[in-house]
Amino acid sequence: MHFEFSEEQLMIRQAARDFAQNELKPGVIERDEHQKFPAEQVKMLGELGFLGMMVSPQYGGSGMDAISYVLAMEELSKVDASASVVVSVNNSLVCYGLEKYGNEFQKQKYLVPLASGTQIGAFCLSEPEAGSDATSQRTTAVDMGDHYLLNGVKNWITNGSTASTYLVMAQTHPEQRSRGINALIVEKGMPGFEVGAKENKMGIRGSDTHSLMFTDVKVPKENRIGDDGFGFKFAMNTLEGGRIGIAAQALGIASGAYELALNYSKERKAFGKTIADLQATQFKLADMATEIEAARLLCLRAAWLKDQGQPYAQASSMAKLFASEVAMRTTIEAVQIHGGYGFVKEYHVERLMRDAKITQIYEGTSEIQRIVISREVLK
Ligand code: CAA
Repeated sequence: MHFEFSEEQLMIRQAARDFAQNELKPGVIERDEHQKFPAEQVKMLGELGFLGMMVSPQYGGSGMDAISYVLAMEELSKVDASASVVVSVNNSLVCYGLEKYGNEFQKQKYLVPLASGTQIGAFCLSEPEAGSDATSQRTTAVDMGDHYLLNGVKNWITNGSTASTYLVMAQTHPEQRSRGINALIVEKGMPGFEVGAKENKMGIRGSDTHSLMFTDVKVPKENRIGDDGFGFKFAMNTLEGGRIGIAAQALGIASGAYELALNYSKERKAFGKTIADLQATQFKLADMATEIEAARLLCLRAAWLKDQGQPYAQASSMAKLFASEVAMRTTIEAVQIHGGYGFVKEYHVERLMRDAKITQIYEGTSEIQRIVISREVLK
């Protein structure tokens, strides 16, 4: 076991850090305030290879490992979790799923533009009445011979209006429950596909979250991923990797808030000394640093297992469960260390605190992670 990063991994971390400071930080407060999608920044992230990080160069990707992905996600999320969720969804839920389970036609047509960053994708599993209980899909994909007829509504879809390619889970054989679900590749512009209103969210306000409506959308059979009925396993397996990305996002939110609090505590004076000289602050910083380091190790371990081709469902759920809770606790304490300044937008920590909350909810709530972990430990 060794704890050193390779030269390449360190370079990627530095590139992500520089990008976050130079390109994401300047407008982040304004984008949060006005719910503005970081379109320009996402385009640049695509050009730099961050949208298809783990995809093979053969399909337009950067061919990096999952460890590098964690390092990049942490750095981007320290500054702008609305931008980093685009990176996470595109890499883990869309590109990974297409590369692992798509056929050659689907990879050439859909993966190449997604991995090279000229388009972005969305992963459409959640529904108004099927969030955690993902088996209960109400969206239907009726088999019409050479195509499926897609009808239904999807909710809380990240990249909802900005994506070009949507991976949509839908029920074809309701009597078979999870074994009757298919994963279909749907293009923006297919007749009958409509994007609903943008959600006005508490956090990650720059990200583009919408409901989607499908009314008699004809999806060609060639757009089904895997065999008939493979859609639920496709979604679950893809989410295992997605949870590494969100865990790393939570880690970044936590470490971003911690760094701000640490710096502030060394500048702010009270009772004749800096607040970093007060033991009340020191104990908070010690707890924050320890928890962040533990979260980082869990994220890296999950990524390492994935890179080694070993099972990582339990490790990714553990990383997401723990890192998202650390993000919540750390951001609350970072606001507290900042006192009144923490409550105003200019100091960034209140945004990080709002952004932290979603990491306990999306790609499976903390309760879902506990289900996944307990099933594994009880096996
Ligand atoms: N890999 C492959 N197959 C899996 C799997 C996995 N990780 N997990 C389950 N399966 C299979 C099971 O083996 C089973 O197959 P068989 O019928 O052949 O035995 C089938 O799937 C059904 O599994 P379960 O019986 O375990 O299903 P369940 O109803 O008990 O649900 C669950 C399991 C873990 C709770 C699942 O529903 C779940 O993960 N829910 C949360 C969904 C989620 O994370 N949603 C997030 C939406 S995406 C998002 O947020 C993206 C974004 O925009 C940021």
